[in-house]
Amino acid sequence: MKTAKSLLPILSLGIAELTVNAAQLQCTTDAFAKYLASDSSRGEPAVVQWAYRIPKGGTFQVPDSDIAYPESPTDLPELCVLQVNVTSSTESSYTFGLFLPSEWNERFLAVGNGGFAGGIYWADMGVGVRYGFASMSTDTGHNSISTDGSWAYNSPEKVTDWGYRAMHGSVVLAKELANAYYGKRAGYSYYSGCSTGGRQGLKEVEMYPEDFDGVIAGAPAWWTAHLQPWTVKIGTYNRPGANGNQIPESLFSWIEAQIIEQCDPQDGLKDTVISSPQQCELNLEALLCQGPKTSGSANCLDPAQLETLYNIYSDYVDTNQTFVFPHLLPGSESQWSVLVNNGSNNPLGYEYVQYYLGLGPQWSPDQFDYSIVQLADKLDPGNATARNFDLSPFQNSGGKLLMYHGMADGFIPTDSSRYFYNQVAKTLAPSGIDLDNFYRFFYIPGMQHCAGTPDSMHAPWYIAGPNQASSLSSELHSVPGFSDAQHDILLALVDWVEKGVAPDFLIATTWKNDTTQAEVYRQRPLCAYPKMAFYKGQGDPDQAKNWECRSLY
Ligand SMILES: *[C@@H]1O[C@H](CO)[C@@H](O)[C@H](O)[C@H]1NC(C)=O
Ligand SMILES: *[C@@H]1O[C@H](CO)[C@@H](O)[C@H](O)[C@H]1NC(C)=O
Ligand SMILES: *[C@@H]1O[C@H](CO)[C@@H](O)[C@H](O)[C@H]1NC(C)=O
Ligand SMILES: *[C@@H]1O[C@H](CO)[C@@H](O)[C@H](O)[C@H]1NC(C)=O
Ligand SMILES: *[C@@H]1O[C@H](CO)[C@@H](O)[C@H](O)[C@H]1NC(C)=O
Repeated sequence: MKTAKSLLPILSLGIAELTVNAAQLQCTTDAFAKYLASDSSRGEPAVVQWAYRIPKGGTFQVPDSDIAYPESPTDLPELCVLQVNVTSSTESSYTFGLFLPSEWNERFLAVGNGGFAGGIYWADMGVGVRYGFASMSTDTGHNSISTDGSWAYNSPEKVTDWGYRAMHGSVVLAKELANAYYGKRAGYSYYSGCSTGGRQGLKEVEMYPEDFDGVIAGAPAWWTAHLQPWTVKIGTYNRPGANGNQIPESLFSWIEAQIIEQCDPQDGLKDTVISSPQQCELNLEALLCQGPKTSGSANCLDPAQLETLYNIYSDYVDTNQTFVFPHLLPGSESQWSVLVNNGSNNPLGYEYVQYYLGLGPQWSPDQFDYSIVQLADKLDPGNATARNFDLSPFQNSGGKLLMYHGMADGFIPTDSSRYFYNQVAKTLAPSGIDLDNFYRFFYIPGMQHCAGTPDSMHAPWYIAGPNQASSLSSELHSVPGFSDAQHDILLALVDWVEKGVAPDFLIATTWKNDTTQAEVYRQRPLCAYPKMAFYKGQGDPDQAKNWECRSLY
């Protein structure tokens, strides 16, 4: 019952109390269905599949059919949950889920997806709703796990939904339903996504600059037409073959240890974290076997294996010196078992070629060459690539964009984000637009893809970014003990959008045990690019106050 709403306390984000409005909807399938039926202005037909109330402390039990995101969020605030199915073409439809909390902070939040996944990300909606946001996620128009691209075969409409259409359509309709439910518009709208979720955020910024006031794009998979072919390419480097170039997976952690030994001190502080891998002067020859390699278990590399290592740490440049994609950074080795592995290739690469580019299931990574990159550039299925670098419409509408990328990311090369940032800088410089006023980029030294840090580094990585809280527990949100705009990127974005306070740095956290978050192990500032964090030279380097942001030049 909503009669008590006017008595709601001021919420965690400090917004005025709700006022009861006669236009409010009940939390029932019927009420939402009637509302949809009464609105004839909408283009795409939409059906409310169900709506019901979850009591305070309750769990949303994710339906078994959602194979991409099976984690059920627990310990939820009291809310109304609904699912809506929208027909996007004669051959396609998408659904979205919406959490409408009773104690609403008067803000809207959309969360993103990952890989090729089709599914509603209920766990990340659970994170958003605990702050008080009305939270939405779309299945992007199909049902699959993140490494399955087969649904895309000969299905351009589904690919368009995945590319951008499902997100935008879901955002517009979810906002309208939230508006009808509360009888009041959300004051501000936000977006938070990582990986494919980062790409979706940038697509929104580029195509629908009015959708959000603030966007978080973590480790964005923005350059789909090059990232996916690069994923095939890197899978070919470590193939078993007569030339003896293959590095067994069992040596990856030894290589990681050698790289940390070389690169960690070069950043000015020996602390197991590689803070500036791009500046690291590598001496890979130090990894060579001295004399003939007698046993397969020896911790050293043959000259042919060293070539493989050079390939992994080199940009992908093809015919006529065309730059295709940046390389994985030294320090990313802890995640190599996924893409580098034993040369067996990852579906995120070859299934894109088979099913999105339409070459069919017979196509094999052995057939890969530069023509695949050219085909991907030409087709860019679903217009998925976020390559419109003119972000001035978003900037003009007052939008704020926070982007970050882990430096130990072994799935999406870290510097594809820097490349994006630099392209935007180049595009906007002639108009005199200062990126700092609306777009900031943060490297996260020692963070893997979207979340986590290798045991060997134990770097501060947690900023309550997309997917991070839900990767640790089913009931978490924000930064336990540090729920403020310095430590929590979503609160930082809210402050920037609503109070004009731009984050010069964010403080990342790691605990002795990240799963329990009982005792902080390290905190450290992440500086807005191109600044970097430097240890001041005295005091405990595991405390953020003993670091400062400085320019390298
Ligand atoms: C959405 O509706 C379409 C058209 O009725 C149907 O084919 C599809 O299975 C529905 N999707 C879900 C996830 O319920
Ligand atoms: C490479 O450059 C040559 C000479 O300009 C040109 O003929 C050829 O088409 C280029 N190849 C590709 C793949 O772009
Ligand atoms: C290589 O990786 C694939 C996929 O993980 C696996 O099926 C295969 O057994 C592996 N081969 C070797 C030699 O480790
Ligand atoms: C992709 O963008 C191009 C150029 O704006 C447009 O002509 C085309 O219709 C778009 N395709 C899809 C699937 O949205
Ligand atoms: C962290 O805590 C969890 C939950 O208590 C436990 O299962 C795990 O083993 C701990 N990890 C380490 C490295 O101690």
